[in-house]
Amino acid sequence: MTDDLPGPFDGGPGGGSGGPGGHDLRHHGDSDVAPGLVDLAVNVRLPSPPPWLRERIAASLGDLAAYPDATEAANAVAARHGRPLDEVLVTSGAAEAFSLLAHAFRPKHAVIVHPQFTEPEVALRGAGHPVSRVLTSADDGFRLNPHAVPESADLVMVGNPTNPTSVLHPAKTLRALCRPGRVLVVDEAFADAIPGEPESLAAERLNGVIVVRSLTKTWGIAGLRAGYVLGDSALVARLRAIQPPWSVSTPAAVAVAACCGAEAALEAEALAARAERDRVVLVDGLRELGVTVAGRPRAPFILVNVPDGEKVRLRLRELGYAVRRGDTFPGLSTDWLRIAVRDAHTIRGFLDALRQALIDVG
Ligand SMILES: Cc1ncc(COP(=O)(O)O)c(C=O)c1O
Repeated sequence: MTDDLPGPFDGGPGGGSGGPGGHDLRHHGDSDVAPGLVDLAVNVRLPSPPPWLRERIAASLGDLAAYPDATEAANAVAARHGRPLDEVLVTSGAAEAFSLLAHAFRPKHAVIVHPQFTEPEVALRGAGHPVSRVLTSADDGFRLNPHAVPESADLVMVGNPTNPTSVLHPAKTLRALCRPGRVLVVDEAFADAIPGEPESLAAERLNGVIVVRSLTKTWGIAGLRAGYVLGDSALVARLRAIQPPWSVSTPAAVAVAACCGAEAALEAEALAARAERDRVVLVDGLRELGVTVAGRPRAPFILVNVPDGEKVRLRLRELGYAVRRGDTFPGLSTDWLRIAVRDAHTIRGFLDALRQALIDVG
């Protein structure tokens, strides 16, 4: 299903409720959280960076008088993914990568596969590019049919695993989207949250493909801004050419290097395995409550469908729990809620609150 929408983003810098199709594309999970609520709305996975990372970041503060240099960070990223340096660009979070993409290219027909993280669309519209949406469907477990993407699309953006559906698209489905003259952008912000990083294109040298990675979720450094791009060297060169100078701060560059080291990779793998176990507790508990879980979740968050979802979400807030509203994602309504996977104890508390909320609203 394609949802063609008018050109430039009409919601102003903040988006507000005036975003295309009435979606507030600038709404993110952090807006659903408030002091005193247990946070199952934001997908940052650690409450704070681990001690070894904090130490590295803190040690870098003495160097703040010098302009930053991301060379060591880029080397670490290249080594982690087995790519040459000219296929790597360290960025100030994945969010900067979307902005660079929107300004480096002039797509005639950009397509975004939704529901997905909305900042790529905000960036494209903000740069004045027309955007159309291909919607995956709940009836099909939010899987992507590559034939649904129009042949005329010269820039295609897809998330893998996708936020908020938690669906992991097969790498072969993504490869099937490659075409001469087309740029395919795969947002792998949560790829390191799945043991073994299956279906990732991060190590594949494919013409026309850009992979965007974030380090902010796994390592609890959303406030620091750290991510990177991997891809076709000609495309990466275009992003590099327009990246503002010193875009990645010294502490962020230090964090990128640290998080791409061998020990961090092992720790990420252990965190990912734990998240899988915790997700089973959450999904089983939801199914016992008769709640519909979308698709086949693979990421450290899940999407659920609840009749009267908005009332349930608000009741959950009264009971002390924040979940992420779904209706700001194109293709979803207020009956969809996204729930972050937390530790088993937190999940049990949440399931008790949800049981109560469903009774109260029902
Ligand atoms: C799918 C997805 N991609 C990218 C980002 C942004 O990542 P970063 O914090 O690295 O800018 C987010 C943040 O929520 C996200 O959910």
